[in-house]
Amino acid sequence: MKHMLSPSLFSSAFFFILLSYLCFLFSPTSNVVSQSPVAYYKFVLQWPRAVCPTFASNCISPLPNIPTIHGLWPETVTGVTPPIRNPAEKFNKNKFLDLLPELNIKWPTLLLRFTNQGFWLHEWGKHGKSSDFDQRQFFHKTLDVYSMIDPMNRMAHVGLHPGTYTLQTINSRLIAEYGGKVQIICITNILGFQVQELRFNVTFDSAGQPQVHPFTPPDQGCQAASTNGARFWLRFLS
Ligand SMILES: *[C@@H]1O[C@H](CO)[C@@H](O)[C@H](O)[C@H]1NC(C)=O
Repeated sequence: MKHMLSPSLFSSAFFFILLSYLCFLFSPTSNVVSQSPVAYYKFVLQWPRAVCPTFASNCISPLPNIPTIHGLWPETVTGVTPPIRNPAEKFNKNKFLDLLPELNIKWPTLLLRFTNQGFWLHEWGKHGKSSDFDQRQFFHKTLDVYSMIDPMNRMAHVGLHPGTYTLQTINSRLIAEYGGKVQIICITNILGFQVQELRFNVTFDSAGQPQVHPFTPPDQGCQAASTNGARFWLRFLS
C-alpha cells in the first residue's frame, strides 16, 4: 500500500482548506461592512424669534420669518450620538456648492458669532460625521427632510398659524398632521412663553426617502407654564 493520500482524500483536504480560507475572508469579524449604529435622526427646527427675542446685537438682522433648521442629529438606540464614522472628512463647502442658495435660506445661523458656513462646519463636526452620510449627502438629506416636514404649509394645514395656542393644542395638531408625537422645546423670555424648537424622529427608507415617526422623549421647558393653561407663541414673523 502506497503512503500517499488517495485522490479523493486529497481533494477533500484541499476543499476544506479553501473553504476555511473563504470563511475567514467573509467572516463578520474580517468584513469591513458592519451595521450602522444610527437608530434614527433627530431633525430640529428652530423659531428665530424664540432664539432672538430682543433683536439683540448678537443676532442676525433681519431675522428669517420661517422656522429654520438647527440640525439633523443621528442617535443610537439609547439616544446618544454614535461614534464618528469618518473623522478624516474635513468640512469643505466645495463639495456641496450647488446647495448653498437653499442652505442659506433654510439653514442660516441666527447668531452673529457664526457665519452660515461656520454654523454648518459646527453641525457637520458635531453630528454629521456620526451620520450614515458623507458631507454632500448630509446637507442634501437635511434639506430633503425640511421639504418633507414643510413646516409653514403643513402646520397651516392643521390651523397652526403664527399666534398663541395652548401646548395641548399645538401637540394634538402636530400629531394629526405628522402621525406621531413631535417633541416641543419651550422657552420663556421677554416675549412670553414661546416654542423654540420642534424635534422630529426621522429615518430614511431603502430608497433614501425620509420618514417621520413618533418621538417618545417628553417636551422640554414647557411644564411650568403649561400646568396653568398658558398659551405658547408660535412666532414666525418679527
Ligand atoms: C424613532 O422612531 C423609530 C422608528 O419607529 C423608533 O424605533 C424609535 O424608538 C423612535 N425613537 C424615539 C426616541 O422615539
